[in-house]
Amino acid sequence: MNVVRIAPSILSADLGRLADEVRAAEAAGADWIHVDVMDGRFVPNITFGPAIVRAVRAATKLPIDVHLMVVEPERHLEEFAAAGADGLSVHVEASTHLQRTLHAIRQLGKRAGVVLNPHTPEENLRWVLEDFDLVLVMTVNPGFGGQAFLPAMVPKIRRVRELIDQAKHPIELEVDGGIAPDTVRTVVEAGARVLVAGHSIFDQPDRAAAIRALRAAAA
Ligand code: DX5
Ligand code: ZN
Repeated sequence: MNVVRIAPSILSADLGRLADEVRAAEAAGADWIHVDVMDGRFVPNITFGPAIVRAVRAATKLPIDVHLMVVEPERHLEEFAAAGADGLSVHVEASTHLQRTLHAIRQLGKRAGVVLNPHTPEENLRWVLEDFDLVLVMTVNPGFGGQAFLPAMVPKIRRVRELIDQAKHPIELEVDGGIAPDTVRTVVEAGARVLVAGHSIFDQPDRAAAIRALRAAAA
């Protein structure tokens, strides 16, 4: 019985062996593959573009969860969709016309996701509640792997859960940042069901054991 879905973030993978790392994550029991796209503007770091999504697509049948940490995300949706993304998530803080951007993602046939930075109130979601399929609550400031989990986000996860349970359609609640066996329980109790994890999977020699440890902590 799987209480939660586990989405390993390739940010912490050995990128020289990307395809092997993705296949290893799939073999280890991952549910989704999380791809962190960073533009050096919305966040200080620069990472992956559509070419990497295409490479991940070629390596796995698992859904690819693309987290866009970029300014003007609406400019890049088509390219990432064509590269093989299954879900596209955009930050509230980077989207001037959020409802329109979410609509555009659904028009591409993809799961539309909204991401909240730590300081961004969940109230933003209320007015677009019927326009998205996933909400991602950041539990660190986006930009880097391996940062410490922010416990102040736990009440926000709970409030997001209450809010999305009022929607007429199912909405996924995902968390990202500092997720490890010692933080899983609190986020799952608060209502999270999709767990992104970078360091706590790819920094472990045995990825299957790492994913099992996350699931066990959630159960
Ligand atoms: C951070 C990224 C995360 C990152 C998480 O900006 O959005 O997906 O890979 O890494 P860990 O799990 O190591 O905190
Ligand atoms: Zn992410």
